[in-house]
Amino acid sequence: MNPLPAAPVVPVSIRRAVASDAAAFARTMGHPEVLPNLMQVPYTSEALWQAHLAESLAPGKGHLILVAERPDAHGEPQVVANAGLHPASAQLRRRHVMSLGIAVQPEAQGQGVGRALMQALCDWADHWGQVLRIELTVFVDNQRAIALYERLGFVKEGRHQGYALREGRYADAYTMARLHPDPPRWDDVPRD
Ligand SMILES: CC(C)(COP(=O)(O)OP(=O)(O)OC[C@H]1O[C@@H](n2cnc3c(N)ncnc32)[C@H](O)[C@@H]1OP(=O)(O)O)[C@@H](O)C(=O)NCCC(=O)NCCS
Repeated sequence: MNPLPAAPVVPVSIRRAVASDAAAFARTMGHPEVLPNLMQVPYTSEALWQAHLAESLAPGKGHLILVAERPDAHGEPQVVANAGLHPASAQLRRRHVMSLGIAVQPEAQGQGVGRALMQALCDWADHWGQVLRIELTVFVDNQRAIALYERLGFVKEGRHQGYALREGRYADAYTMARLHPDPPRWDDVPRD
């Protein structure tokens, strides 16, 4: 299995999302350069994200939603990206699986922010979240995202034809997944 890559090129601060991040989520997810690569639709809003975050962040829901912050020109932290792991299914036999989503503001792209968030999600999944399989879909022409996922140990598992409507055309998507590189075992527990 692939080891996690080296530290990000740009220092970012990562924390769990809170409901008051809704405006930042709407800004990133609704950006015309970001939205076509996601499964979002135009005309998102802060109110929609407030409702979504309030539901997802409720105790016991099992989502992990993180944001990445960098200081602005005045030194104030600004949310420039978000990423999350979401239970892939309510079915008992798929409890070990989470699905991944990520979005970085265009002005912060290509500077290691996505990689830092991906590393944080994979670390949480491997060491805390009881996650053995992380899965995602990505449009086949999203080379930056595919490169990032492959760097973190995701592999392409298949190609969905006509997966989703994107700006008036049906677009294909890969399904990708990363299996835990070293699942914890009972015999690793030190005993006397
Ligand atoms: C895809 C996305 C999350 C990547 O985040 P990012 O912060 O821009 O990526 P990073 O700067 O961390 O770079 C990730 C890797 O991609 C590589 N990369 C950068 N630009 C690239 C490009 N145009 N083509 C191919 N690879 C590229 C980098 O070299 C880096 O690889 P490395 O770790 O081996 O150096 C971000 O660009 C984004 O949010 N895009 C729009 C929304 C989106 O596509 N989300 C994913 C939906 S599945």
